Formats: sequence, structure tokens, C-alpha cells
Amino acid sequence: MLESNKTLSDLASDARSNLKSTFGVDSTLVAAAPGRVNLIGEHIDYCDGFVLPLAIERYVVIAARPNDSSTARIGSTGLDPIELDLSDRQEIGTPKWSNYLRGVIQGFLDLNYAIPGFDAFIVSSVPLGAGLSSSAALECCFATLLEGLVDTVLPTADKALLAQKAEHDYARVPCGIMDQFTSTFGVKDHLILIDCRSGEPEMVPFPDPSLSIIVANTDVSHDLSDGGYGERRKDTEDGLGLIAKESWRDVTMNDVYAKRDEMGDRIFRRSRHVVTEIARTMEAVEAFKTGDFSNIGTLMAGSHRSLRDDFEVSCDELDLMVGLAKEIGFEGGVLGARMTGGGFGGSTVTLCRTANTDAIATQMHERYQEETGIKPLLFATRPGIGAHLI
Ligand code: GLA
Repeated sequence: MLESNKTLSDLASDARSNLKSTFGVDSTLVAAAPGRVNLIGEHIDYCDGFVLPLAIERYVVIAARPNDSSTARIGSTGLDPIELDLSDRQEIGTPKWSNYLRGVIQGFLDLNYAIPGFDAFIVSSVPLGAGLSSSAALECCFATLLEGLVDTVLPTADKALLAQKAEHDYARVPCGIMDQFTSTFGVKDHLILIDCRSGEPEMVPFPDPSLSIIVANTDVSHDLSDGGYGERRKDTEDGLGLIAKESWRDVTMNDVYAKRDEMGDRIFRRSRHVVTEIARTMEAVEAFKTGDFSNIGTLMAGSHRSLRDDFEVSCDELDLMVGLAKEIGFEGGVLGARMTGGGFGGSTVTLCRTANTDAIATQMHERYQEETGIKPLLFATRPGIGAHLI
């Protein structure tokens, strides 16, 4: 019931052969960038919080070759190829997915790079609309390809910020920095603790092969640009405004309680989520640093409950999937489970014993399908590798 992850070299061959069959050329450059799953620290990257994601072994891969023009011709599996003029300012356009690329191109134009024309083909093993940052993977992969085409290497954080700006300005999603940071900074066998106030990533070793991560895509799709995400972000800004402090990092639960009446119920609950989730994330980081996981299940369950009840970004399918992992419990090899990513559908993350992954995934898959009639997608992952040229 666990779907295997295609290797990077298989994805690269797919991209190369599609480039050949679509545009008749052999690639001179191949770029890759991973999706991400967040272990804990949800909806607090835009609140100066701490987040603890990892790059997953699911990638966007692009094969390309310069074409002696000023136009990019770009194909992708199952989609009609598009053409983008590289000599001029990029406007938001159609198809919708082209906007991630337009935004990244504009980022390079803003840095005064002249981008040579090229043909490219995109393949991906990151499930779409599953809360696993397929869009950040596309932006970061494309930015890495453009680095190769203009023969430069941007500082990693600058590349992530350029990709985030593409998402803000061209996909119109006011996301935080977690997804693009994870896709660019990812290191094998490491989690990434991001201090979203300082913008500093710290690599937290995750070397123990006896631990695994199961990602379960409920296959209920969400669209972050449809408003829910922006509304949550606005609620947290309103909460912080009432507390009248510079940063959520300086806010205590006492500060939140002191403004409870002024806030009203909704903003109070949003604020409580932010403060408690920052605290849970710091505790979870200690668990990974010390190897003492006795509390991790409680922390992940607390995070899920807070996202469900206070932040209201979960849904029945996510609650069900998390409940199924919880039923299997510690005895069955589950250390903790929660929804992951932006929510409103998407995926859950389960931390578990590697020896039990197959049995856990089989049970979650069967029970979820019985209850919902929906076939979920489950895969196991270890921390993958950040954006790079192959
Ligand atoms: C989306 C956003 C991220 C982050 C998560 C929630 O993935 O792109 O910046 O806010 O939601 O943690």
C-alpha cells in the first residue's frame, strides 16, 4: 500500500526523453527540486515562528537546452507546451501553472540577468494540490535551471526568496518562507529547523534508519489561492496588532488572555494557535536533538487539535487519516501523526518505526478507503536533497 518513490535518475531520464520527443533536442542541463513535508510548526512561518520541515524524496525535474532565441518553449507531462518571451517584463497569464515560471523569470530579470531562449520539459513526482509544496518545488527547480542557463549561483536564501516572491506576485498566494526554504536548503538525512524571524535555517540530524515518515495524501484537494490561507494570515496580523508587540515570538499566552475580550473568539483562537504551536515546535526540536521521543506523539496530536479547532484549517478527511494512525498507536509503531501543510485537504504526516511502515500504511489505506470511498496515496520518505543541477 506504500507507493514507491521514483529515483531522481529515473525522473531525469523521463524529463530528457520527453524533451527529445516534444522538441527534438537533447538536454544540456537538468535541474531538480523536492517538495516538502512539515513535521510540526504549522501556519506560523508567517508569524516569525519556528517550523520543522524536511525535503521529501519527491521531486520536480526539468531538462533543458538553449535554443538560440529569446523564447522559452516549455512542456510538461499531459499539458500543452507553452511559449514565454524572455526579453520582456512577465505578465500574469494562462495557463495558471505558467505563472510560477513567469514569476521566477521576472525574478531573474529584476536581477538584470539576460536569460537565453531555451526548450525545457518538466516532470514531477510531487503530488499536486496535496499540501506537499508542488508549486514551491516547481519554482525552486525552475530557478535552479535558470541559474544554470545564466551561469550563476545565487545565495540559497536569495533563491528561496525569489521563488517565494514569484508565488506572492504571480500565483497570488501570500505564503510564508517554509516551502521554498525547504526545497532549496534540503539536506539528506536532516530536518530543517527554520527560525522564520531571523530567516536562519539550522540542519537537525535525522540519521536513525529505524525511524520513517509516512505521508498520506487524502486526495481531497485544496486551493490556497481561494482565500482561506490569506484570511488566516490576516487574522494573525489582527491578533498581533491588538497585542501591540513587534513579533509573535515575544508574545506569551498571558498577553493573549489579556486581550481576549477585545479580540473576540475567532482572533483569540487564532492567536492561541500561534503561541502554543511555537512552543510545541521548540519542544519537538528537543526530541529530535536528544532522541527522546516520549513526548512527540502528544506534541503532534496537540498541533493537529489546535489546527482543527483553533485555526480551523483541517477537514474531516484529514481528521480521519490522523485518527487512523492514532488507532494503530505506539504499540503498532506510530510515534505521532498530524495534518501537514496549508490544510483544507491535502496530506497528513506520520512519524513511525521503519519496521512497521508497510503494516501501518496498509491499515491506513484500507480503512480510509472503506470510510470515504477515496483511494489515498501513501508513501514513505526520508529527508531528500534540496534544489540542484544534476
Ligand atoms: C503553505 C504555505 C507555507 C506555510 C504552510 C502552513 O504551505 O506555503 O508558507 O504557511 O502553508 O504551515
